[in-house]
Amino acid sequence: MKKIAVIPGDGIGVEVTEGSVSILNTAQNQVYNKHIFQFEYFDWGSEYYLNNNKMMPTNALEQLSKFDSILLGAIGHPDVPDHITLNGLLLPIRRKFDQYVSVRPSYLWKNTTSVLREAQELDFVVIRENSEGEYANIGGFLHMDNNYSTSIQTAVFTKYGCTRIIKYAFEYAMKRRNKLKVTSITKSNAQAYGMVMWDECFKNVSNDYPEIETNSLLVDAACMDLVRKPETFDVIVASNLFGDILSDLGAGITGGMGVAPSSNINPDNNVPSMFEPVHGSAPDIAGKGISNPIASILSAAMMADYLGYEKISLLIREAVQKTIENKVFTPDLGGTNSTEEVIKSVEYNLVN
Ligand code: NAD
Ligand code: IPM
Ligand code: MN
Repeated sequence: MKKIAVIPGDGIGVEVTEGSVSILNTAQNQVYNKHIFQFEYFDWGSEYYLNNNKMMPTNALEQLSKFDSILLGAIGHPDVPDHITLNGLLLPIRRKFDQYVSVRPSYLWKNTTSVLREAQELDFVVIRENSEGEYANIGGFLHMDNNYSTSIQTAVFTKYGCTRIIKYAFEYAMKRRNKLKVTSITKSNAQAYGMVMWDECFKNVSNDYPEIETNSLLVDAACMDLVRKPETFDVIVASNLFGDILSDLGAGITGGMGVAPSSNINPDNNVPSMFEPVHGSAPDIAGKGISNPIASILSAAMMADYLGYEKISLLIREAVQKTIENKVFTPDLGGTNSTEEVIKSVEYNLVN
């Protein structure tokens, strides 16, 4: 039995997470005919903040530490500043459990089309450094009440942190056996300390993987290449901020935010990892019943795989592919179906 903490959060996070839980329930019965996942819900998020002046209870992280995994919807509310919501819930979880890897696949599903006219087969993964870099939360304000208002935001790159994420990317490429290629993306021409250290770590680690083709790109050129020749990418490894941005670009060229899953994992320790769609709470469509649940469903499949239930993960992915082949699409994919109809279709495909 695996104990899963479910935090639906805000906006469309609530709509899509409900579907993922019911799909995991259906899939476990279909594959193993028994109860594998035990879900416990937490109503933390912006509504909780508006009532309690904090995003989650003081002992929330301690509560979460007792779970095998965390399934998160999305966080963000038009009435609460983003730096409060995200620094009150999502980022503390990543930090507390040292979830230093974020795996963010970009895959063009068969029978979907890319905004890139000529793209046929797109299948690459962004391995995002998820614990330090530009998200280190080091800095502060000075003289905010006079004309010398100053803010300092420091990026932190450690040899330990760079090396472990780069190694993870190489190991991932070895396991994936796709193009056996790792591309490191930095901006070391301008960021001449942290990212120079990153580049050196990349060189050092690559020496241990002679089978793997390597490539180092500057982030600006990499953005252009992701549009111009995206099929040349296999595994991308990038800093926290660049990984964040590149994964939205990856989503943008493979069907959009509605189909982009992600994980936040700590491969070393006995602490929960967290699975969530790449997208946010999408206030522009929240409550309309038209959000695409596929990104969340695929994140749940990644969770099942991570917890050792590869068969469940494969079954869910096959069911999603059938839903796509049947053109059961929410509006972001050009269809007219509702969130509910997509969830029902994936559930039907799991058992038929
Ligand atoms: P967003 O990802 O919420 O939305 C960007 C665009 O993509 C919107 O037009 C939205 O309608 C669309 N979209 C996103 N997910 C979709 C889905 N499943 N189906 C169909 N369309 C979808 O990004 P944003 O608008 O920049 O941010 C909204 C809020 O979410 C902000 O408060 C932001 O800070 C927060 N956010 C949270 C997370 C997270 O919780 N992991 C991630 C990103 C943004
Ligand atoms: C993501 C999100 C978060 C991030 C925000 C909401 C803090 O954009 O998971 O991609 O930047 O990590
Ligand atoms: Mn993001």
